[in-house]
Amino acid sequence: MLRLSAVFVVAAALSGVAMGADSDSMRLSINAGDPGATIDRHIFGQFAEHLGRGIYEGVWVGPDSKIPNTRGIRNDVVAALKAIKVPNVRWPGGCFADEYHWRNGIGPMDKRPATLNPNWGGVIEPNTFGTHEYMDFLSQIGAEAYLSINVGSGTPAEAADWLEYLTTAQPTALAKQRAANGHPEPYKVDLLGIGNESWGCGGSMTPDYYVSQLKIYARYARNYNASHPMRRIAVGPDTSETSYTEAVMAAWKSKTWAWDIEGISLHYYTVVKWPPAFKATGFGETEYATMLNSTRRMEELLQAHIGIMDKYDPQKKVFLSVDEWGAWMAATPGSPQGFLEQQNSQRDAIIAALNLNTFARHADRVRVANIAQMINVLQAMIFTDQEKMLLTPTYHVFRMYVPFQGATYLPYTLSGRTYKHGEFEMPGVDVLAARDAKGKVWLALVNLDPGRTASIDLGAASINQGGAKLSRARGETLIAPKIDSVNTFAAPGTVSPKPFDARPSGGALVLKLAPASVTVVALE
Ligand code: AHR
Repeated sequence: MLRLSAVFVVAAALSGVAMGADSDSMRLSINAGDPGATIDRHIFGQFAEHLGRGIYEGVWVGPDSKIPNTRGIRNDVVAALKAIKVPNVRWPGGCFADEYHWRNGIGPMDKRPATLNPNWGGVIEPNTFGTHEYMDFLSQIGAEAYLSINVGSGTPAEAADWLEYLTTAQPTALAKQRAANGHPEPYKVDLLGIGNESWGCGGSMTPDYYVSQLKIYARYARNYNASHPMRRIAVGPDTSETSYTEAVMAAWKSKTWAWDIEGISLHYYTVVKWPPAFKATGFGETEYATMLNSTRRMEELLQAHIGIMDKYDPQKKVFLSVDEWGAWMAATPGSPQGFLEQQNSQRDAIIAALNLNTFARHADRVRVANIAQMINVLQAMIFTDQEKMLLTPTYHVFRMYVPFQGATYLPYTLSGRTYKHGEFEMPGVDVLAARDAKGKVWLALVNLDPGRTASIDLGAASINQGGAKLSRARGETLIAPKIDSVNTFAAPGTVSPKPFDARPSGGALVLKLAPASVTVVALE
């Protein structure tokens, strides 16, 4: 590990030297001697709301289903999610969370009431997937709980009871009820969202009103499981609106012994304007570049909100949780109203990688993030059609990025060309470099340009200097026939990772990145 560090420091010192033989060559220098923060595995979190076919059919089919399942949770989906090492799943919403009453979702199935889901199509909510099913699902996939409590239409007492029901080991009435419902041991709740979009569907609260609610809920929604600390996340900004960020952080700075939070949330979707009208398939380069440009706004938003947080919390104690992000496109024609179903193309893969790289660049502050949403909704990992399951291009990015979970961010410099289309100009290649716990250096490289291969020159110096030789860059690349290529149940492998293997030639290690591709390699 030490020897590789030395190698890369030399490369950094040489950044800006002559480009390689290929005129399109870009010079990448990684400064392994000046590592940044740990990339929290929780930035690879998922979001699963009671919305459309996200939970029902996507996760829950019921124990009597002919679809193979374990206690009602489909086995194919569990296996696919285990492979991407999902760190946490935010549940039960979204807007749904602020109208959710947890007692409807516990106890015998035949006693659970049918309620309504007014936010998402006005459909019946059967409440067959509730607290115990969610916790069972998490244990099957190996993820932590990120519970969102109802601040909009609930009460502090209801939230406090839910937390006591979940987390106490004492023989209280609620703990006995939990045991009677099949789980004597207390559960662990890692993350607790105190409301959702309280400036919007969560109650249209002013920042000051929300802060007064936050103090109440942060005090009474207690975690009783001493073996597992719970981190509370306040509602924060919608996109560029800063009033919640200011109000919550100012309140945190002058907090008393009686309440606290550990995080604040940001929601930002890649969407050009509301309502979302961009097509998920059948688009051209202008729509491609427009969506990438919208995605790149995440950097600007992080800088703005982190700037405010730094003012109140220079030691970066409070983390930023980007707990709703992703591309929001026009719904698939013919899909049920309010179900937010959309296809997922190579463009989505690029959008996912750009966002993940952006979060990692701010690893010292962004410590939780949740893509919206896990299955069948918005920028999904997985589509289901009854017994069939399909992995999307976005899923493949999450799988390829597993080595970055918990790795240490490495700064880099990249010289070279930009990608231009119409009014837009952006860096031609976006990079994430990190070192894993075993000392291996990983690169994620996104070639944004759909018209040109990018040649990334890792430099002769980095190969030949010192005792360690950089002999190979090996991993996978996600390429597609077209920028709007998608996977379908009939053709599930159209967009899928291919092996990538580069070795030095003529003293230089050059990585050739296909147009509009995502590549993840380990350096050997
Ligand atoms: O992800 C869909 C919805 O978008 C969520 O319910 C809400 O929080 C956001 O506005």
